[in-house]
Amino acid sequence: MKRRIGVLISGRGSNFEALADSVAAGRIPNAEIAVVLSNRADAPGVAKAKARGIEARAIPSSGLEREAYDRLIVAALRQKQVELICMAGYMRMVSAYFVSEFRNRILNIHPSLLPAFPGLEAQRQALEHGVKFTGCTVHFVDERLDAGPILLQAIVPVEDSDTPEILAARILREEHRIYTEAVRIVLDGRYRIEGRRVLLDPPQKH
Ligand code: GAR
Repeated sequence: MKRRIGVLISGRGSNFEALADSVAAGRIPNAEIAVVLSNRADAPGVAKAKARGIEARAIPSSGLEREAYDRLIVAALRQKQVELICMAGYMRMVSAYFVSEFRNRILNIHPSLLPAFPGLEAQRQALEHGVKFTGCTVHFVDERLDAGPILLQAIVPVEDSDTPEILAARILREEHRIYTEAVRIVLDGRYRIEGRRVLLDPPQKH
């Protein structure tokens, strides 16, 4: 059976599309995106997933407490028998319940070199701080914001002429690249978590 991935989004869904492209092209072998879930009814990524023939739907979060909402998400993911969850522009913190249901099986991508600039508008935060390099991070998700063990990072230079939008676009290209690599590593089991450190095993020779 193919390895089943669930993707959580809140908006545009370009990281989801990059993962879907990688699955389709065999860069993430023997896997499928089993479901795409959005907490926002208007997320463009839902329509993009459906257009690719991938099951996708919104589960609106308004009016629900964090854990009550996460119980709906976990049930939907369990129903599709996913073994790995990729947050891809999913703009919600998750509850301890969610994390414990999928311990070390939830990844997130964030558009900065964590622990710098967690939270919203990380690219704007980087510009305003005046850093010369920023980037993106794929990390395991725990119940704290953008704080779980770091799997992969990529460095992106900041140019004097950057606006938040220009910088975000430059970072996004690296996000799409390292998210695929991160999913491969996790599905291959080529890593160990020791405390906060994620140690990577060399690629297997086939
Ligand atoms: C991406 O840049 C992602 O790193 C960021 O939102 C964007 C979503 O784009 N996520 C966060 O800031 C999470 N804290 P996408 O919907 O096109 O993938």
